[in-house]
Amino acid sequence: MRKGILTIAAVGLLTTGGLTACSDDSGDKAAAEKTPKIGVILPDSKSSARWETADRRFLEEAFKAAGVQADIQNAQNDKTAFQTIADQMITSGVTALMIVNLDSGTGKAVLDKAKSQGVATIDYDRLTLGGSAQYYVSFDNETVGKLQGEGLAKCLTEKNAKNPVVAYLNGSPTDNNATLFKAGYDSVLKPKFDAKEYTKGPDDAVPGWDGPTAATIFEQQLTATKGKIDGVLAANDTLGNAAISILKKNKINGKVPVTGQDASVEGLQNILAGDQCMTVYKAVREEAKAASDLAIALAKGEKKDTGQTVKDPEGGRDVPSVLLTPKAIYKDNVKDVIADGYVTKEEVCTAAYAKACTEAGIS
Ligand code: BGC
Repeated sequence: MRKGILTIAAVGLLTTGGLTACSDDSGDKAAAEKTPKIGVILPDSKSSARWETADRRFLEEAFKAAGVQADIQNAQNDKTAFQTIADQMITSGVTALMIVNLDSGTGKAVLDKAKSQGVATIDYDRLTLGGSAQYYVSFDNETVGKLQGEGLAKCLTEKNAKNPVVAYLNGSPTDNNATLFKAGYDSVLKPKFDAKEYTKGPDDAVPGWDGPTAATIFEQQLTATKGKIDGVLAANDTLGNAAISILKKNKINGKVPVTGQDASVEGLQNILAGDQCMTVYKAVREEAKAASDLAIALAKGEKKDTGQTVKDPEGGRDVPSVLLTPKAIYKDNVKDVIADGYVTKEEVCTAAYAKACTEAGIS
């Protein structure tokens, strides 16, 4: 069901340029008079570097360019703090609240409260299941997973692996994106397991996308299989790096392909070193811009037609959405991420990676 909807969504991929105002919107007079003030709650700063190094930066950039006031805070993986920040933002008079939920339960409570106070709401990056956000802005997350599955298969072929055992390090069970990523990589890998081309190894979710927990889980996976893991589908660069740290400990890094996501400096360096197969680059600048445009429009009492919806499988709602396109990154196109201004050459090409950078055409 969800798959069908996401397929339709993928066809209608949009950038913010595609957003159009609904002329038939009667609008809300009171809202129309509000001066936009936007509150953003980021989830944490450890599950991925992106939240502080990319999302905060690009959201600030978008709000500044639009000349709107904003308050961006980080809940640091604390659900109580998440709700407290939301309450404070609502009291301080934000016109729109943008959240990256820590789980759907607290996310829903925050969205419902904002709604009851007349504050516009946006689910940023993660859909709150059963929630009430007016818009959802993210990437096509099933495609993210598909790129990871295809990437792992490509790297296993390059390594000439025969009937490889593939282990999964999935994202947080409370993050709807983790479900979508898994649906994506399963769509590529399950047929290979079924055809006995690959062997399914351990399959574990990592609570809170926590790196140290992922390292412990991966070490257990390696012990349970007596070291027989030939490829690791890690759902993001944090989990990938955790697996790589254990592979290093066992002196088999570089032999076992590992996937990732987020094009973090660490992930890109792991790719350049040959320890990581690939990552998935999501142009957060576009995501931030799309969300910012919607939040400003909502504050002005305007409604935008995003041209696509995503079905909330829990609430059954068709949520108006903007879904952007992710891109697979291998050694040969690490340079594209730098050219896009997501990370700098100075950050990636430190002394230890200088030679690999030159070889990868990063000048
Ligand atoms: C995001 C990923 C991120 C992960 C952990 C997901 O919801 O889409 O980009 O790596 O959360 O923070």
